[in-house]
Amino acid sequence: MLMAAASITPGCLADYPTRLIRLRRAAIGDCGRLWSRRPSYDLVGRGPIGILPPVMKTIEIDRAVLHALENRRARVVVSTGAGVSAESGVPTFRDANGLWKNVRPEELATPEAFARDPRRVWEWYEYRRGVVRTVLPNPGHCELVRWERHFSEFTLITQNVDGLHRLAGSVQPIELHGNIMTSRCHECGQQSGEIGFDGTGELPRCQCGGLIRPNVVWFGEQLPAGALEKSWEAVQSAEVFLSVGTSGVVQPAASLARLAKSSGAFLIEVNPEDTEVSYMFDAVLRYPSGIVLPAVGRRLGIAE
Ligand code: APR
Repeated sequence: MLMAAASITPGCLADYPTRLIRLRRAAIGDCGRLWSRRPSYDLVGRGPIGILPPVMKTIEIDRAVLHALENRRARVVVSTGAGVSAESGVPTFRDANGLWKNVRPEELATPEAFARDPRRVWEWYEYRRGVVRTVLPNPGHCELVRWERHFSEFTLITQNVDGLHRLAGSVQPIELHGNIMTSRCHECGQQSGEIGFDGTGELPRCQCGGLIRPNVVWFGEQLPAGALEKSWEAVQSAEVFLSVGTSGVVQPAASLARLAKSSGAFLIEVNPEDTEVSYMFDAVLRYPSGIVLPAVGRRLGIAE
């Protein structure tokens, strides 16, 4: 058990400062304007960069994947990780330029680290909030909005705290690890909108006197009550389970694939790289999610 925090409700649009929503929505109108149409290519580039144009190859999609998803009444569960936001410019954690390459999680993403040096922890989360404020959903996020509309029983579970699924228009993503753009009291858990800390002056405090912290789940803390149970419920009755852009090493999210497997679901991994749990999957799509998910949607004839 890695993560615990009492009674956090996943962030929702209501938690975002309206001006931010307005600005970004005005900019994109959720996926409607940004990616109202799928990228017009099912190609992916491989090969030398710079000198010669990359060799563009048509994406190969395992027939079993299309077969598993062809029935729109199928119970589909998609579980995403940092990789689904990589093409938006949000760093992942464990890739070559991942966030954990230069710092140890224990130093910044634990209640102990916050107790030890809350200013340093805030500094790091403000840096990450700064990144999230400047990025937009990518075609991968937007394709999952289409799938939510298409499949009669569709569940989206995410470990991501960037809120990009919501901003893309996903109606009910289960945000297992919270939401970096919102805050709450470290003592009483009181939600406190988007209060932050710019590194100067007093640390922000709650009326109860407790320190305010980012509304995310840290290592060693409990996941939000209800979110995990809802995920388990959906996974246990899933007919198709997709793991998109996660290395599958952080529990309890990493156990969802195993639960889906033992419940008889058809397992699909979407990740350009092999992961520690790839052996469990019935089919893999070794492409960036922002390219391959729209390609699958196109092949299935899912409406734009
Ligand atoms: N499309 C799909 N997958 C991608 C892409 C992409 N464009 N780019 C990278 N990936 C894959 C990587 O190959 C890697 O397997 O995404 C995965 C990202 O793995 P991690 O960085 O470990 O992120 P994640 O699995 O989400 O981490 C889980 O760990 O640090 C904690 O709380 C944090 O929620 C996070 C949890």
